[in-house]
Amino acid sequence: MDTPYKPYKVMLFFLKLKTDDGVFMNMPELKIGHHTSRLPIIQGGMGVGISMSGLASAVANAGGIGVIAGAMVGIAEKDVSTDGVAANCRALTREIRKAKEKTNGIIGVNLMVALTHFAELVKTAIAEKADLIFAGAGLPMDLPAFLKKGDRTGLVPIISSGRAAALICKRWFQRYHYLPAAFVVEGPKAGGHLGFKPDQLDNPTFCLENLVQDVLDELRPIEAAHGVRIPVIAAGGVYDGADIRRFLEMGASGVQMGTRFVATYECDADERFKQAYVDAQKEDLMVIKSPVGLPGRALRNTFLEDVASGVRRAFKCPYHCVKTCDPKTSPYCIGMALAMAQQGKLKNGFAFAGANAHRVDKIVSVKELMKELETGYAMAAPWSHKNPAKQDLLLNVKPNALGPFDATPSNSTPVQAII
Ligand SMILES: Cc1cc2nc3c(=O)[nH]c(=O)nc-3n(C[C@H](O)[C@H](O)[C@H](O)COP(=O)(O)O)c2cc1C
Repeated sequence: MDTPYKPYKVMLFFLKLKTDDGVFMNMPELKIGHHTSRLPIIQGGMGVGISMSGLASAVANAGGIGVIAGAMVGIAEKDVSTDGVAANCRALTREIRKAKEKTNGIIGVNLMVALTHFAELVKTAIAEKADLIFAGAGLPMDLPAFLKKGDRTGLVPIISSGRAAALICKRWFQRYHYLPAAFVVEGPKAGGHLGFKPDQLDNPTFCLENLVQDVLDELRPIEAAHGVRIPVIAAGGVYDGADIRRFLEMGASGVQMGTRFVATYECDADERFKQAYVDAQKEDLMVIKSPVGLPGRALRNTFLEDVASGVRRAFKCPYHCVKTCDPKTSPYCIGMALAMAQQGKLKNGFAFAGANAHRVDKIVSVKELMKELETGYAMAAPWSHKNPAKQDLLLNVKPNALGPFDATPSNSTPVQAII
């Protein structure tokens, strides 16, 4: 008789679920570049002063990967409008050093390819021994050119399709004999600038699950050909521990989260910026056409409503922060608008936010948030008594398939970047 229960299969099932520290309820660690993060959680870089050394070091101390955003990191420097390169590079140097003084954990830097001073900021991040560089808002086709022999900074492109992943791997390997330390796959529910056409944002074909699968499929033959593991990090709308488990079960090695980290005491934005998240309702989230030339997701307010109704604020471009922005046609200065919001002056600017920002109902510490995510992850396990719905999964283990956990845990092989 064909019985659904085969004791050795069930044993194998539990053995496969064991993570390195032997506690199978725990999140697996994330091996990325030369580093191992206790938790597979990366705090997304959030530009113009939202994620600086304060937030990044708190996340790194809590077991995740903290990321300092390079976009207008020097906004408070006196010479930012007269010598933007010097101001931003000086501020980035200072923030990386401050973060490294506060933590022994992993610190990355987020740099938008579209930034006018992208090259100088990359050089600064590498010189300051940032552990990782996350590069998005454009394809970082020549990023490895900045690495010199012995540099240990891992390079992580932020992409939105398998095609982009394959293209970058091909180019980086052909030209630089280097493969990415990981890929962040950012879906349409993310906050900030989005790598999609406006009509793709609500199209289920472009949901994060499909994009992650697409990237995993593209990477599989590349990984096999080079004998390496390139971790895939899911980003955009990842909100709780159950979301993290879902993406890890799919084969992702980690997640990147932005919105949740805004609503923490340690986030470097003004309290009023954070409170805007707590107060937000679902209908307050809107997609804007950013002067950068990409759609962006933000919290609706009078500033954005004025822009939408055609109000143009006269300004003289003070920062020249983004290559793709044309101040002559732009209805406002995005650098200034985001700086105002960061300082809590939301009448004169606006807050970027992810599609789940309306679910935020309180400000917590980074430590509390991480604990909540870890607990949520454990409770979403099929064997958790808190999750009776998923227990069915366990009882229905089929003789030849171990359910969604059949795949070897994605973190089991060490990552190797080739250089
Ligand atoms: C306020 C804010 C600012 C952001 N700024 C940047 C940025 O400067 N560069 C970047 O690559 N991504 C930026 N992002 C995207 C985040 O790094 C992250 O990938 C994304 O928000 C993940 O989606 P989630 O917010 O739903 O977690 C920003 C997001 C927010 C909410």
